[in-house]
Amino acid sequence: MELMDAIKHRRSVRAFTDVPVAKEVLLGLVDAAIWAPSANNTENWHFTIIQNKALLDRISEATKAHMQKVTDLATAGTRVRQHLHAGPDFHVFYHAPAVILISTIGGDFAVEDAALAAENLMLAAHGQGLGTCWIGLAQKWLETAEGKRAVEIGPRYIPVAPIIVGTPKGETPPVPRKAPLARWID
Ligand SMILES: Cc1cc2nc3c(=O)[nH]c(=O)nc-3n(C[C@H](O)[C@H](O)[C@H](O)COP(=O)(O)O)c2cc1C
Repeated sequence: MELMDAIKHRRSVRAFTDVPVAKEVLLGLVDAAIWAPSANNTENWHFTIIQNKALLDRISEATKAHMQKVTDLATAGTRVRQHLHAGPDFHVFYHAPAVILISTIGGDFAVEDAALAAENLMLAAHGQGLGTCWIGLAQKWLETAEGKRAVEIGPRYIPVAPIIVGTPKGETPPVPRKAPLARWID
């Protein structure tokens, strides 16, 4: 796939088939992630690959309960409000067969580095016909002591990017972009 084509046609995918993603494919995505640039080449990222359905269901339920408690609906974004009103069937990971959580132990630009790794991972997945979506909704619960224990990351780790991965089910509609706000300074 041509690079600009991949960049422009990657979409956040929220519906998946039941087909599991092979472990070597998931490891291949992690390998793509680590070729991202990182400040001072610190490579300060850590990957937790979760395919355990019971654990993914548990994180989904815990996230919804946590977000109901901590979200200020007056200031929350539209999508968070929609999710919180979505009812008991809503699954924060959209029943994806795998989640790759990128976390970091912090330091200068650590979150930026993890986010660059995340985009590499999502583009690499798209290049192989897989769908991904960064699930920011899960982040606040994953940051709790209970959340970190659930995904087996130490207390010093900061979860940055929980990314669902799976085989897309059906068409993913295009998501338009606004014209960029760009100004020349010659
Ligand atoms: C930091 C971040 C957090 C996001 N959190 C969620 C989320 O919790 N749930 C969700 O369905 N999509 C989430 N998304 C996906 C965005 O909604 C999506 O990227 C955006 O609507 C643009 O669509 P596209 O990715 O298809 O271009 C998140 C994306 C980013 C970058």
